[in-house]
Amino acid sequence: MKTPVLARKASPDDAVFWQDDNLYLLDQRVLPLKETFIHCETAGDAARAIADMVVRGAPAIGVTAAYGVVLAARDAWREAGKGWRQAMREDLSLLAAARPTAVNLGWAIARMDQLARTLPDDANPEPTLLDEARAIHEQDIAANHTLGDLGATLMQNKTSVITHCNAGALATGGYGTALGVIRSAWKAGKLERVYADETRPWLQGSRLTAWELVRDGIPVSLLADGAAAARLAAGGVDWVIVGSDRIAANGDVANKIGTYSLALVARAHGVKVMVAAPTSTIDMDCPTGADIPIETRDASELLGCGGKKMAAAGAEAWNPVFDVTPAGLVDAIVTERGIILSPNTKKLRQHMA
Ligand code: MRU
Repeated sequence: MKTPVLARKASPDDAVFWQDDNLYLLDQRVLPLKETFIHCETAGDAARAIADMVVRGAPAIGVTAAYGVVLAARDAWREAGKGWRQAMREDLSLLAAARPTAVNLGWAIARMDQLARTLPDDANPEPTLLDEARAIHEQDIAANHTLGDLGATLMQNKTSVITHCNAGALATGGYGTALGVIRSAWKAGKLERVYADETRPWLQGSRLTAWELVRDGIPVSLLADGAAAARLAAGGVDWVIVGSDRIAANGDVANKIGTYSLALVARAHGVKVMVAAPTSTIDMDCPTGADIPIETRDASELLGCGGKKMAAAGAEAWNPVFDVTPAGLVDAIVTERGIILSPNTKKLRQHMA
């Protein structure tokens, strides 16, 4: 992985981009203090960037993995010629293992692999696979615009909302899922203010969501994660709007740790919960939330902050980075195909048919 200085200016829509036959990732670990790009030369670089949180957010991970497959095929063609398909298997496994919870990762690799299996042995696979990765990227942006506009129609009154983690342009191909709804609601004049949970320990809320919203001129106030209940009790917030890493076939939703507690307090205060996600986040092979693999990251991420040790020496930590919100606490799932109110297995099956 290299960190070149590029002439190209970063924009929130450029978390992942392919330029001059190369994959670049905006390094989200150091935003908003630095806008630095990481250059991925190999599929291994892309896998490492996903595991290390250079790029994060389920759809952005999927888009990165799709370009990672292009890099894998490029190297395999150079090294093995006609044997390229077999030669890239190891890289595909490396990419798939980078993070466990976001189903968009496996979804994108499977889509790329399916195409790879139809390609001839004796021709360079890179151009065709690159077209497919670009299609995955563009379709994700288009899906976010569609679901963003759809989600905004659910907001009846001009209101404030709470969001958790970052489900914005940075977490997707562009525009965002939860932030897609928020952007569309803002354009429609339906949004007062966004309350963004800071989202410990990686601070995706205060570093990334706030960065995106400030750049868009959308009023944003940060909340300590534990402040959401008090904020909802104070009134003026009609919706909690979040993204997802994987939605099970029964409508249970895996998202950033803390989403479950936010949904519980929302229900206690009569505030509705909207989950905005493309259909690539729905996993019909996963019956319930209990079947979703939940990533646990290193304790050091929780015991410190910004790379500095904070916790008392000797303290240990339990650090699952996602939780599951049961379908019963979700008022609406919004995808590019439409709105599922009070989701359940039957409705999800119909939606995905
Ligand atoms: O650990 P992260 O930052 O990858 O977690 C991201 C989230 O939980 C997002 O809410 C989710 O991926 C949806 S992004 C559109």
